[in-house]
Amino acid sequence: MDFFETVHQRASVRNFSPCEIHEAQWEAMLRAAMAAPSAVNRQPWDFVLVRDREVLTRLAETLPYARMTAEAAGAVLVCATPERAYDGSTEFAVIDASLACQNLLLAATALGLGAVWTAVYPEKEREAAVRAILGVPEAVIPLALVPIGKPFGPVAAKDKFRRESIHEGSW
Ligand SMILES: Cc1cc2nc3c(=O)[nH]c(=O)nc-3n(C[C@H](O)[C@H](O)[C@H](O)COP(=O)(O)O)c2cc1C
Repeated sequence: MDFFETVHQRASVRNFSPCEIHEAQWEAMLRAAMAAPSAVNRQPWDFVLVRDREVLTRLAETLPYARMTAEAAGAVLVCATPERAYDGSTEFAVIDASLACQNLLLAATALGLGAVWTAVYPEKEREAAVRAILGVPEAVIPLALVPIGKPFGPVAAKDKFRRESIHEGSW
């Protein structure tokens, strides 16, 4: 898929049909995630790939806005790892891991799959719940859970272009 087509077709997908995502497709998505830029190229991210149906269901039951995880083919927990970030910074780790997450969402779209960013960070209760289910260490921030699967029904991207958000030359 052409880059601009991918960017403009990406939309949050919250309903999934059963499907199998092949090993090569997971790898392609995770490679795209890790191709993201990061401050001083520190790459302060980690990923937990979840494909076990029982675990997906537990995550869906635990996270209030991630119910669709139960129907997804799998999910990727995108983590920010401050101890590997520039200056040990939580802020840089979160920014860098967010860019990786966006690449993951775009890669899913390019493969004809659907995905959605569901928030874990900065909700402390959700972070604790995800740590407990997936064994994420205290020093690592579970940033977002991204369920991925075959979209159920058509995916309609929103047009978000606002000319008034562009400030030419100065504000
Ligand atoms: C930081 C962040 C947190 C989000 N959290 C959730 C969430 O918990 N559950 C959900 O269904 N969507 C979540 N979303 C998806 C947004 O609702 C979605 O991106 C937004 O409505 C724009 O729609 P679009 O992605 O289809 O363009 C989140 C997105 C971001 C960037």
